[in-house]
Amino acid sequence: MHVYLNGKMVPESEAMVSIDDRGFLFADGVYEVIHVYHKKLFEWELHLARLQRSLAAIQLPAMDGSELARVAEQLILELGPEQSEASLYIEATRGTHRRAHGFPPPGSTPPTVLMWVRPVNPIPKETVGQGVPMITVPDDRWAKVWIKTIGLLPNVLAKEKAHQSGAFDAIFVRDGMVTEATSANIFMAKDGMLYTAPATNYILSGITRHVVLELAQARNISVNLTPFSVDQLLMADEVFLTGTLTEVLPIASIDGHPVKNPSGPMARQLLQDLHERAGLQP
Ligand code: PDD
Repeated sequence: MHVYLNGKMVPESEAMVSIDDRGFLFADGVYEVIHVYHKKLFEWELHLARLQRSLAAIQLPAMDGSELARVAEQLILELGPEQSEASLYIEATRGTHRRAHGFPPPGSTPPTVLMWVRPVNPIPKETVGQGVPMITVPDDRWAKVWIKTIGLLPNVLAKEKAHQSGAFDAIFVRDGMVTEATSANIFMAKDGMLYTAPATNYILSGITRHVVLELAQARNISVNLTPFSVDQLLMADEVFLTGTLTEVLPIASIDGHPVKNPSGPMARQLLQDLHERAGLQP
């Protein structure tokens, strides 16, 4: 398959980035991941807007959205007929320059831009039906988590800790309050009401989170966006993750404590509504 790198479509095996790339040296870049359902980008405009916000936050120039969409469509054309689900990855770094912390002089390097489309396997139905085990970890990330930066080492370490403890993923906890998971947001349902952390600088404001909140409102489910603790999470009726590739994924246990209803009706309904919005057959 081809990938897009700095204005060209190149075979994946020939796509090379310099050792002086600032993404490689400093994680000085931002990214997006978009779900492709049946060759169509899901919620493209929302992802593009978030990409532009992330670029602006690190003082990189805005990107041409119609050009990105055109490249994405070209990459999607390479998917086989059987590959109904895929992900589009977009990354932009501050380009290539001899290592120095300060920005390269203006005009000395264009950003490095990488895009690919790769097939993804949907999460097995049994996993969705049973829910997944989670652990909690201290949220020791920086205070600008809202920027979708490629600097993801705390997320990587937390995910690995989860795997080493036999869990699916980790829930970040900051000052006693639940923020999010390593690459997904977190919701709980209690007495018919839906809760998720507010979109402050301490979470990545997920596109799936946004869509799920809209879907909940369309079903007249009340939503509460105030911070909640792990104790509250443990008393919830349902707990679930939302994310581009995670979709709506029920949680079965947290630090070994079972969740009351690991495949609850709220998560099931919202997943069905999400799939409908993505144009999937029930
Ligand atoms: N991650 N929180 C974090 C820290 C994330 O990295 C992500 C997405 C989300 C969910 O956002 P969205 O619904 O827009 O996907 C929340 C992507 C999928 C990734 O890093 O692969």
